[in-house]
Amino acid sequence: MQNAHIDLVRQAMGKAYAPYSKYAVGALVVTPSGASYAGCNVENASYPEGHCAETAAIAAMILDGQRRIDHIYIMSQDTAGATPCGGCRQRIREFADAQTPVYLCSPKGVERQLSLGDLLPHAFGPEFLQSEGAN
Ligand code: THU
Repeated sequence: MQNAHIDLVRQAMGKAYAPYSKYAVGALVVTPSGASYAGCNVENASYPEGHCAETAAIAAMILDGQRRIDHIYIMSQDTAGATPCGGCRQRIREFADAQTPVYLCSPKGVERQLSLGDLLPHAFGPEFLQSEGAN
């Protein structure tokens, strides 16, 4: 199964539109039911207005009515594995928890497995608010 997921996230990375940074990223969120949703980064001429691969994958998941991330793959060409930006760590947190596995990948496959808690310790999440959004 993991090989199939790696293929999907590699395909997503291949579709990235990143003419400015030349840093293509793919992401794949997998739900507890096994459904998966891919995303890639999409840049534009107004640099800060581009969006990250993880953001796109989460949006696809939400559009399909799913609200829980079981695990997530993120891939770039970096041989150390792609690490998510701070904003995306928070976006993932909305639909995941500290134990959620985050697989940092290069095109070869998984380079490092961390948890979301490793990446975003002491996170601020929906449970801090009166009206919890997720789950
Ligand atoms: N990028 C992502 O897609 N995900 C991340 O978590 C890190 C950064 C993208 C944004 C931009 O298009 C390019 O990588 C360089 O920052």
